[in-house]
Amino acid sequence: MRLRLAGAVLLAAAAYYVYLPLPSGVSEPWKLMLLDALFRSFMRASDAAHSLGVCHRVRLLNRVVSWVEVIEARSSPTVKVTDSTLGGVPTRVFQPNGDSRLRRGVLYFHGGGWALGSAKMRSYDLLCRKMAEDLDAVIMSVEYRLAPEAVFPDQYHDAVVASQAFLSAELLQQYDIDPERLCVSGDSAGGNLAAAVAQELSLDDSLQVKFKAQALIYPVLQALDFHTPSYQQNQAVPILYRPYMARFWLQYLGADSSLEPVLLANNHSALDQRAISAATRSKLNWTALLPAERKKNFKPVVEEKGSPGVVGAVPGLIDVRAAPLLAEQEVLGKTPKAYVMTCEFDVLRDDGLMYGRRLQDAGVEVTSDHYEDGFHGCMVFANLPMMSSVGQRSMRNYIRWLDQNL
Ligand SMILES: *[C@@H]1O[C@H](CO)[C@@H](O)[C@H](O)[C@H]1NC(C)=O
Ligand SMILES: *[C@@H]1O[C@H](CO)[C@@H](O)[C@H](O)[C@H]1NC(C)=O
Repeated sequence: MRLRLAGAVLLAAAAYYVYLPLPSGVSEPWKLMLLDALFRSFMRASDAAHSLGVCHRVRLLNRVVSWVEVIEARSSPTVKVTDSTLGGVPTRVFQPNGDSRLRRGVLYFHGGGWALGSAKMRSYDLLCRKMAEDLDAVIMSVEYRLAPEAVFPDQYHDAVVASQAFLSAELLQQYDIDPERLCVSGDSAGGNLAAAVAQELSLDDSLQVKFKAQALIYPVLQALDFHTPSYQQNQAVPILYRPYMARFWLQYLGADSSLEPVLLANNHSALDQRAISAATRSKLNWTALLPAERKKNFKPVVEEKGSPGVVGAVPGLIDVRAAPLLAEQEVLGKTPKAYVMTCEFDVLRDDGLMYGRRLQDAGVEVTSDHYEDGFHGCMVFANLPMMSSVGQRSMRNYIRWLDQNL
């Protein structure tokens, strides 16, 4: 009896901890809650270790994630998996077995707020393996440096160097990759790096080989407006809460974490911030760039007076290499055909939607794939902790787009 009572109490406590009121419409809410409870527990443990001075929160978090998730490069009968380098940057390579005819190639950047994750994580390993199998393509998943040890522009620099090596004649020859059929891709912070790389390399006239496509999965693309309708609507939706995103940005840009409330108040982009021109503001003006059904009744948050000096102290905030949405239209127009995946229940939804719209306005062919029941991370967490239906669906559609467009 006592045991049963204790069991019931424990179960109730667990349910209380896991339960979160989620907006109706989220795909399989209990799975998302469970994923969030896991993530939250990790975050709390890391915060505790951080404040006790044991180690930096991100380092601990990364260690836990690595311990749970990192797997060796293991080949299967269909795909040869090896750990190699691209221009000196560690990279996991997935090569389909079989004859040596030319194959398509995808360069992939994993997500994790420029601070977490790894190409060697089970979830990314599985994704790339599946892409290699389903597309009969060579997939290279880049292990770029992470915050807090590395800050902008290190991650960006690794991404560009790896991309240049990927596009080199020697590499393409070595792996029997078709130079006409190359894609750069990534999710979340990896989508940010993929978009930035696509811009940078499109401008480089010295390159003989270019990417044919860019595929961006719920990418993060700007840090000037933390009150887009999706930031407002989804601020309390797991797993990427609004404050986490501000914290990831500050960490990436090597700025002090005490600026978090300033960013969350949009004080860094108040109108007294002279470093942000009207032209820059128009590039993320969601009242003009989003369709009515996404704007709903949300109001822009534009302060008259804020914290001038923040952009001066953190110049990365308006650096297009960190925030690809700030690119000029002429630059966007030179980038390859695009696939942009967005999720309704994601603070980054509007970053992706605005980027898709601006690419289209610049004359780029864009496939916009929006998931009304999707949440941030759903594609990569397609196998974790349980299969999510929107995760499986989005992964299928992403791979299908690559198959038809590469
Ligand atoms: C944003 O777009 C709206 C609607 O087109 C326009 O009225 C407003 O002036 C624009 N604001 C900026 C800062 O560009
Ligand atoms: C934003 O700026 C205003 C005006 O300078 C100031 O009163 C307010 O405290 C600031 N808020 C934050 C969170 O920094």
